[in-house]
Amino acid sequence: MVEAIYKSTREERERWIKEAKYNLFNLKSDHVFIDLLTDSGTGAMSDKQWARLMLGDESYAGARSYHALKDAIREILGFEFFLPAHQGRAAENVLYSTIVRAGDVLPGNSHFDTTKGHIEFRGATALDCTIDEAADTSLEIPFKGNIDLARLEAALKKYPREKIPAVVLTVTNNTAGGQPVSMENIREVSRLCRRHGVPLQMDSARFAENAYFIKTREKGYENRSIKEIVKEMFSFVDIMTMSAKKDAIVNMGGFVAFRSEELWKRCQMFCIMNEGFITYGGMSGRDMNALAGGLDEGTEWDYLESRVRQVAYLGEKLDEYGIPYQRPAGGHAIFVDAARILTRVPREEFIAQTLAIELYLEAGIRGVEIGAILADRDPVTRENRYPRLELLRLAFPRRTYTNNHVDVVAAALKNVHDRRERVTRGYVITKELPIMRHFTVELDVAG
Ligand code: F0G
Repeated sequence: MVEAIYKSTREERERWIKEAKYNLFNLKSDHVFIDLLTDSGTGAMSDKQWARLMLGDESYAGARSYHALKDAIREILGFEFFLPAHQGRAAENVLYSTIVRAGDVLPGNSHFDTTKGHIEFRGATALDCTIDEAADTSLEIPFKGNIDLARLEAALKKYPREKIPAVVLTVTNNTAGGQPVSMENIREVSRLCRRHGVPLQMDSARFAENAYFIKTREKGYENRSIKEIVKEMFSFVDIMTMSAKKDAIVNMGGFVAFRSEELWKRCQMFCIMNEGFITYGGMSGRDMNALAGGLDEGTEWDYLESRVRQVAYLGEKLDEYGIPYQRPAGGHAIFVDAARILTRVPREEFIAQTLAIELYLEAGIRGVEIGAILADRDPVTRENRYPRLELLRLAFPRRTYTNNHVDVVAAALKNVHDRRERVTRGYVITKELPIMRHFTVELDVAG
């Protein structure tokens, strides 16, 4: 399916962004020319997936569509037990309602914001053990999403086993720039977890892109298929949470899968309470059917290659223009290094958000801030947390835009980059929620 997009004038965009309280989530999609806010649920389903929608079985319990999804999860991911959920954070809710208690610690690699939100909401701590190299955007290493094994081991030794309900390994590491985790790192993390008797949870939203990078960057995997690599990745994992809106290429859906039948049974209560009966958990039969197909298509080499190469293409354009971004190019997005561009904007005025607004004003392109607004306040001190990086994420919907759109994005960024010295002030927060404020935050021009 194709859809028209509309150009607008700078005057219109100035008005719309002001009305949106300088929060790009508040814009109408019709006021956006190229929408790189997220790759989540924004992709195009294939002809085969649309055909599967027509074949959806809407029985309340034991639907054929549920069994189609169950078969796909067993065959492609290697998990016997799972609970459907309406999206990734709902899967997290079902799992963490069951296993996380106040005072617990969940070490991991740059937990995604909803994951961190679910952990902190329960009075537990999301302990970031990402390798330090991830904070140096100019450093070109193949697996910048990895966990620092020494830091993880120290955490596993420091806290008693019953205080660590899981280690959370996010693939690819979204917050650090869509950066992959190597098979070696997955294996070693799993070994540490097993030694300390702690389950390993994989936040698997972009597991297939991670497998692509293992195949193309890690020695010994060149001749293995994506599906073989995916199976091996999950062989090290006890629990997987999945936002199917990413690498399963559906507009809505998710699930949590388990190695342990006992844990699967314990989690059923929260699935039934919050999502729905255990054979549909928040999804229509047709959506489960399309999701089953998406797991298969999303783990095909040809699709993955064209997708990841489109992101790399934007990276090459930015190289040409001398615009800094998290290197190497990530799986689903380019993360522009805002702090190295808008050097005159103080961090208290939200550097990456300022760049996001500048890019919108320039050409109607919508990206998203991965910086101090997203990082939220410290749950105890309530002070703003300033992360090591201020990034503007430009995420690519799957199978949606052409490289012609990418050229427009690159040219617009170049224009902003050319006038970067003239951007000296950012924004201040006028309204915010106590947790996950970035979605609804209201801002005003600073000064
Ligand atoms: N985990 C990761 C790594 C994610 O990137 C997301 C969502 C989730 C979990 C939650 O899944 O949205 O289905 O509830 N990321 C989107 C993004 C929103 O734009 O990166 P969800």
